[in-house]
Amino acid sequence: MTIFNLGSINADLVYRVPHLPGAGETLAATSMSRGLGGKGANMSVAAARAGAHVVHIGAVGEDGQWASNRLLEYGVDTRHIAVAAEATGHAIIAVDDAGENTILLHPGANWALSETEIDLALELSTARDTFLFQNETNAQRAGAGMASARGLRIAYAAAPFGAEAVAEVLPLLDLLVLNAVEAAQLETATGLPPDALPVRDVVITLGADGCRWINTDTGHAQDIPALPVTPVDTTGAGDTFTGFLVAGLDRGMPMAQALAQANRAAAIMTTRHGTADVIPDLKDVQDSRF
Ligand code: RIB
Ligand code: NA
Repeated sequence: MTIFNLGSINADLVYRVPHLPGAGETLAATSMSRGLGGKGANMSVAAARAGAHVVHIGAVGEDGQWASNRLLEYGVDTRHIAVAAEATGHAIIAVDDAGENTILLHPGANWALSETEIDLALELSTARDTFLFQNETNAQRAGAGMASARGLRIAYAAAPFGAEAVAEVLPLLDLLVLNAVEAAQLETATGLPPDALPVRDVVITLGADGCRWINTDTGHAQDIPALPVTPVDTTGAGDTFTGFLVAGLDRGMPMAQALAQANRAAAIMTTRHGTADVIPDLKDVQDSRF
């Protein structure tokens, strides 16, 4: 089965800093590196590394051929990555000594996706496939609507979080991934606690505490603990989690097993500097010792 991922593609400019800069502060970085990123691209790579067949739907600028090429190298189907008039999206990422980050985003081509391209990509889909998306592109509602009409399973990672963006697609979703603070914000915005959301499976990530899965059909809630790691760079860990989760479900894994695998992949990711280029594969995850 295929995962159709409507997602952002960025050049990540990563600066290591002694602490995250404050307002008005000029801070010298101790190192700088460049790589492939974007929450969408990271999830495509993670799902592909987890063994899934992934079609990425997105856009880069004329300057972004390297990014498509790299996705292709990582096993992602890039036929539906369009070339837009805007420049390729980029992210300026500061990572401190504790592994925490701040991200400044320039969406560029990620906000120039065409609904025609999405429709074209989905022509190849069947009702056994999954449509995945996040909150870094335009056309989220339109894409999810088209995929839903074709009967695909719809998965949404509410990142970066926007209560309005989630509310807009909520009735279409089969799976929603968000963190605890975001779940509370969504409750404030919609009046609905996580177990009353109109989404069958809700996964709340809890950082070092793992995650909680709620099946709103049955009322079943289960906590899946994380692995104890010392993080050096948490950037991309959440994206890796979602990519592995969706890939596991696509392969027919039970939810608890897919979540345990996603937790492991995310834990490994926090021990590595970088984003899409350093996402672990299934073997890394299976061989991991914590
Ligand atoms: O989640 C990490 C990602 O957020 C980075 O790769 C960056 O490009 C931003 O999209
Ligand atoms: Na990382």
